[in-house]
Amino acid sequence: MPLTVSRLVQALEPSATLAMAAKAKELKASGKTVYDFSVGEPDFITPRHIREAATAAMNAGHTHYTPVAGIPELRAAVAKSYRQRHGLEYSPQQVVVSNGAKHSLHNIFTAVCDPGDEVIIPAPYWVSYAELVKLTGARPVIVATQESDDFKLTRERLQAALTPRSRMLLLCSPSNPTGSLYSPEELTALADVAIERDLIVVADEIYERLIYGNHRFASFATLRPGLAERTITVNGVSKAYAMTGWRIGWTLSPPHIAKAMESLQSQETSNPSSVSQYAALAALEGPQQCVDEMLAEFSRRREFVRRRIGELPRLSCCEMGGAFYAFVNIQAHLGRTYRGARVDNSAQWCLELLAQQSVATVMGSAFGAEGYARLSFATSLEQLEAGLARIEAFLKSPA
Ligand SMILES: Cc1ncc(COP(=O)(O)O)c(C=O)c1O
Repeated sequence: MPLTVSRLVQALEPSATLAMAAKAKELKASGKTVYDFSVGEPDFITPRHIREAATAAMNAGHTHYTPVAGIPELRAAVAKSYRQRHGLEYSPQQVVVSNGAKHSLHNIFTAVCDPGDEVIIPAPYWVSYAELVKLTGARPVIVATQESDDFKLTRERLQAALTPRSRMLLLCSPSNPTGSLYSPEELTALADVAIERDLIVVADEIYERLIYGNHRFASFATLRPGLAERTITVNGVSKAYAMTGWRIGWTLSPPHIAKAMESLQSQETSNPSSVSQYAALAALEGPQQCVDEMLAEFSRRREFVRRRIGELPRLSCCEMGGAFYAFVNIQAHLGRTYRGARVDNSAQWCLELLAQQSVATVMGSAFGAEGYARLSFATSLEQLEAGLARIEAFLKSPA
């Protein structure tokens, strides 16, 4: 029998973000200096006390299987952090720790969605949502938002997308790829529709700790009494503690959903890495000054990026309330030639920018929004200065 790939996996789109990052790496390997704004990961090394906790855990012999849904101390620490910061009461049994927040999302869709269920995903969206939903046989329903609304889903747009098969709504605030942050009022309007129409809400709060200026973060499940019963919250250590490589994320959910995900995980991956769990425990329970320091640095970079984009001809981006992305409107720069290369869409624009100026960004089309490019500012100010100067040179390059 010929060795073929399943129809399900053939239908998957590979991650465009990782593909752009790989192209940037290839260029670097060929000896070029590359300004890489493609990847969504902090450039900082994981703080020292967290690394030391991991070493101590290894030396203490925590190198075995752990309970599938995580060590009790970590599940309790996650529940405590939501109680202390958001006033939400979860028992440790409602926390399921997985191999990164991406794995948590996979667990949610697999444990909750049946074939034919519709999952509403506002666009621009993070690249993996729709693909993970498709793997379950459920149907992603992409709902466009507007730049003039800071790319936030409105009650009206949500209502217009609902059908009798609507099962789940996915919200990401602060957002990857736009950096926009829903206000408590905006989220409450969506929560009311979810309650009225009996929707499950997945609240991806992975960028929760990266909030700028006067913006205020609201955890979705807090917004109406009883909302936690229909909400599955996703979070983790990757972005807030510069721990992308450790692969620890989690969900907070009603107990029967947590049990279902634990059962699924027991057959798919077993526990997440024991050592990483101890590191994540140190992240949550240890000093939080490191988060503030990284946030201060991200904040400086955000200011710089905002100012420079404002200075560049006919570029704009929406208000970045959180996360570390600028979602730049490049529409005025499409439909022209850059040093002989015709550029008609965001993919061509990003590829040409990389080829001509060695600056890596990600095309908006990968996030369901043509006419934009995502620039991650999780990289040093020097890189951003040089890279934005090159973007300026690209924009001004002759036909
Ligand atoms: C919105 C969003 N959710 C989830 C994740 C996954 O995080 P992790 O690295 O913990 O799997 C990411 C990572 O890029 C993200 O941007």
